[in-house]
Amino acid sequence: MKLDGKAAFITGGGSGIGAETARVFTREGAAVTVVDLNAEATEALTMELTATNANIRSVVLDVTDEAAVTSALAESVEAFGSLDIVVNSAIRMAPGKLIDLSTADWKLLIEVGLHATFVVGREAAKLMIDQGTGGSIINLSSNAGLAPYPGAGAYSTAKAGVIMLSKQQAIEWAEYGIRSNAICPGHVETPLTAYLQDPEVRAGREAVTPLGRIGQPEDVAAAALYLASDDSSWVTAHALVVDGGIVASIYNHLPGRTWRS
Ligand SMILES: NC(=O)c1ccc[n+]([C@@H]2O[C@H](COP(=O)([O-])OP(=O)(O)OC[C@H]3O[C@@H](n4cnc5c(N)ncnc54)[C@H](O)[C@@H]3O)[C@@H](O)[C@H]2O)c1
Repeated sequence: MKLDGKAAFITGGGSGIGAETARVFTREGAAVTVVDLNAEATEALTMELTATNANIRSVVLDVTDEAAVTSALAESVEAFGSLDIVVNSAIRMAPGKLIDLSTADWKLLIEVGLHATFVVGREAAKLMIDQGTGGSIINLSSNAGLAPYPGAGAYSTAKAGVIMLSKQQAIEWAEYGIRSNAICPGHVETPLTAYLQDPEVRAGREAVTPLGRIGQPEDVAAAALYLASDDSSWVTAHALVVDGGIVASIYNHLPGRTWRS
């Protein structure tokens, strides 16, 4: 098992990519604290995971509540003896075109998507530095952190910030053995992307994805497992694109190429 003896703290762990990451980490022997705002989803997942791994805890909190985050991290160390892996997956959408976007919606998305990622990382790093055995921080960015997502409000700006935050964490904390990496998923089927259930949208997206399918939470959880485990012990400050090739495929969409195969 790749995460035997390690303890993980996963925000947004009640749903989608965070929940699947909790499943995979549990299967690989990690003790896991699942953190989410949604009590019902978090408790249901904890019940499911407890059937195969006794070392599961859930904490219902808002990641923008600094005091709650700080206590939850400390309690996780108390319960499991260490903090080795942090996954920041929580997100709250507040879409809108920039011209119409309210300041409140801009701030809401930045708070959950970027600011909380900073606070969770900072408080986790303090504990990892104290314990002296390093750790792995994995921050969920997006294809939208690499290319602007029109109409998504502050989403692309927050996700681009998450990539740079991960790189800065990686360089500032490398001396403590703490690695930090971002994951940039493309379109993945989760409750966040309910629009993928529309057959027309789905077929259209499949058609423009070089690997020909919509991503699943398992695709991203496998990347998180790699970054969490010692398999990636020399990988830090990286933004790992997990998207079926879509973000690199811009030339497929430009007319006038004469050497298309
Ligand atoms: N699904 C995709 O296609 C996709 C693509 C690229 C990036 N991502 C990123 O992956 C991550 C996970 O996305 P997902 O699709 O699993 O989303 P999801 O909506 O399924 O899960 C997000 C979870 O975050 C929780 N959450 C929201 N606000 C919170 C808060 N203030 N405090 C604590 N928890 C809070 C929600 O309750 C939910 O359980 C996000 O960061 C998202 O931006 C997703």
